[in-house]
Amino acid sequence: MTSENGWVHVGSPSDISPGESRAVKIDAGRSVALFNLDGKISATDNQCPHMGYPLTRGVVKDGVLTCEHGRSFDLECGRGGH
Ligand code: FES
Repeated sequence: MTSENGWVHVGSPSDISPGESRAVKIDAGRSVALFNLDGKISATDNQCPHMGYPLTRGVVKDGVLTCEHGRSFDLECGRGGH
């Protein structure tokens, strides 16, 4: 992983198959969750704002990620708290 001009390289789109997710550690206590939605990659903090569960453990349907206690997040626009 490299950091250049504030950007962190977390991999290439081909690293995640369509319909799959992947957590990438970006520093000691933080990771981002990457999702491949039919070939389009979405990224979000991997820690749910509710109780901190990894969002990669959630279920994605129609572009909406639902975490284990029911909070949901639109992976297209980033809006959450549904
Ligand atoms: S930890 Fe995500 S909804 Fe509770």
